[in-house]
Amino acid sequence: MQRETERRLAAEALDRVERRAIPQAESTMVIDGARYTADTALAAESTALFRRHPLLVALGCEIPQPGNYLAFDIAGVPVLLVRDDEGSVRGLLNTCRHRGARLLSGEGTVGKAFACPYHGWAYDRCGVLRALPESEHFPEVDVDDTRLMRFPTEERDGLIWLLLDPTAAKVPDPGLEALGRELAGYRLSDHVRRGSHTWTKRMNWKLGVDTFLELHHVAVLHRRTIAKTILRQAFLYEPFGRHARLVAPRRSIEDQRCEDPANWRLVPHATIIYRLFPNAVLLSQGPHMELYRFFPDPEQPGTTECRITFSSPADDDAVRDWDEVLGLVLGVLDREDFAMMESVQSNLAAGLQREVMFGRNEIGLQNFHRVRDAALIE
Ligand code: FES
Ligand SMILES: [Fe+2]
Repeated sequence: MQRETERRLAAEALDRVERRAIPQAESTMVIDGARYTADTALAAESTALFRRHPLLVALGCEIPQPGNYLAFDIAGVPVLLVRDDEGSVRGLLNTCRHRGARLLSGEGTVGKAFACPYHGWAYDRCGVLRALPESEHFPEVDVDDTRLMRFPTEERDGLIWLLLDPTAAKVPDPGLEALGRELAGYRLSDHVRRGSHTWTKRMNWKLGVDTFLELHHVAVLHRRTIAKTILRQAFLYEPFGRHARLVAPRRSIEDQRCEDPANWRLVPHATIIYRLFPNAVLLSQGPHMELYRFFPDPEQPGTTECRITFSSPADDDAVRDWDEVLGLVLGVLDREDFAMMESVQSNLAAGLQREVMFGRNEIGLQNFHRVRDAALIE
């Protein structure tokens, strides 16, 4: 985040803390809970959201070296991210041109070429076929001119964006507006991955995003854990196109009230939550960043893969036990937030109470769901 933005937001946070004034929507909003449970809702989102909008799929530091790869599914589509010999990130369909086998799984490093586990067709890091065993049986296949399907992929300021449309030539502008410069200010391209985790949860992908969009629940759901550190009566909220930023100040922000406002800081005293449409949430936790991505199971609206990565600057010399940091943060998320979301999912799936209500203080949820609704009919 740039200093000027940081000073401005710190001033706004301190003012809101003093006035106990939170941003509010004009009215409550009621939605049909079927958007979390219906196959039709998921099918519409898979087409209109996941295939038409650039997706923030990874941090560059998850695959820092040539040959590093990540394999994961986006709404049922098997995707492979590989860093090629020149250092660019390639987004490939993780499906062999021969008979459709999945080429790689999980994450790791491949050499200059990697072979399909079924019959051994071998591809280079750009997805070009380089070797075909017993090629005499495939006289029409032109090695070096056969390639895996490609998705437009772009690494920008340490963030990897992908468009899940192999017919498109490039990744469209994600429409970050002023957030683009703000995110660049975190210098994520100088970050190192400190840990990753993947969960499969029995909740709709939007419930994963919803988790991060209001602070109203902190005093109740998190009363025994993080409630004491967060000033829930004074958050900041600002939409940027389809995306948004929510700031949750911690109590320590007040310690600088007597200092010169020119020196006020926000980053060390707040959790800054960037909701990056449609399915990613990037958090600044002060010394480190966290990226959450929610990928729906293509067949089940109530099942989601959550991919989580923590990073911090390469020159971060604070001695920290990262397993412990991940354990603490993810423990609260798992046992409190996502456990609650799984129960919401199963209650809504029971199908009797259909409506879900967002209060005026849940402006972040109102905005996310309105943006989602608008994108479905674009
Ligand atoms: S399916 Fe990959 S080599 Fe046969
Ligand atoms: Fe929470």
